[in-house]
Amino acid sequence: MGSQRNRQPVVQLWSCVLALCVQLRSAQTADCPADGRTWVPFQDRCYHFVHGEEDKIKSYTFDRAKSLCLGFEPLTVQSAEENDFVINYSPQVWKGNVNVWLGMFYDTNIDGMRWFGESPVNFTNWEDSSSASDLAPLDTCVTLHSNTGKWENVSCTEEVENGVVCETAQKAKKVRKKPSALLSALVILSVVAVMGISAVIWFLHQRHNFGSTIFTAFEYHPPFRVLEADQSCLVEAEETDSAP
Ligand SMILES: *[C@@H]1O[C@H](CO)[C@@H](O)[C@H](O)[C@H]1NC(C)=O
Ligand SMILES: *[C@@H]1O[C@H](CO)[C@@H](O)[C@H](O)[C@H]1NC(C)=O
Repeated sequence: MGSQRNRQPVVQLWSCVLALCVQLRSAQTADCPADGRTWVPFQDRCYHFVHGEEDKIKSYTFDRAKSLCLGFEPLTVQSAEENDFVINYSPQVWKGNVNVWLGMFYDTNIDGMRWFGESPVNFTNWEDSSSASDLAPLDTCVTLHSNTGKWENVSCTEEVENGVVCETAQKAKKVRKKPSALLSALVILSVVAVMGISAVIWFLHQRHNFGSTIFTAFEYHPPFRVLEADQSCLVEAEETDSAP
């Protein structure tokens, strides 16, 4: 009877630790903007493919297209995997080939293209083109062909029918680092606490079971009030036990 009552708090503490672990896991799921639009998570980023009602006019200059992202950046492509993701997802929102604006611009300081957000252009996927482009450097924008994944230089100001994809980093990734260390420490502390409490409860339980042997060892020491109280409990328990 006594042991059943003692285990109850241990079970409760373990379920607390489990609940904490479950919360840790859910904190790691995709955290894309909740602005009522469809954001698709891929790796540590989120993508919104502008289509349908949002995309009525369809032909914009690059600046108009960029404004459709409502403060988010237009698509940047930093790897072949990300390039493939855009090719693979496009058919779900657009029919046929769409040329998607890339969020890059000509930077006169480096005399070359640069992503918005200042990261260098490491990965490129230019289409083979022997003809030198006659675009003025400052009027050079880039589109990705959603069927082949190849990139093409186009004019920023020409109103052509291009697709818009907006992109942002997942919020969870940004803020996770510090709290994750804190939460891990919390989990470890809880486990240690639960183990400590279990040990104390076990010890108390053992002391009740083998109380008489422990008390014999204490017999020659000055008696504590606590021991006296415990002994009277034991006597009571023995009395009730012996009663049929
Ligand atoms: C791009 O390359 C530079 C130098 O080669 C490197 O320092 C940087 O980390 C790279 N950036 C990305 C996003 O891979
Ligand atoms: C597109 O323009 C950029 C900047 O002028 C240039 O670096 C790049 O080679 C061009 N790509 C093609 C395929 O012409």
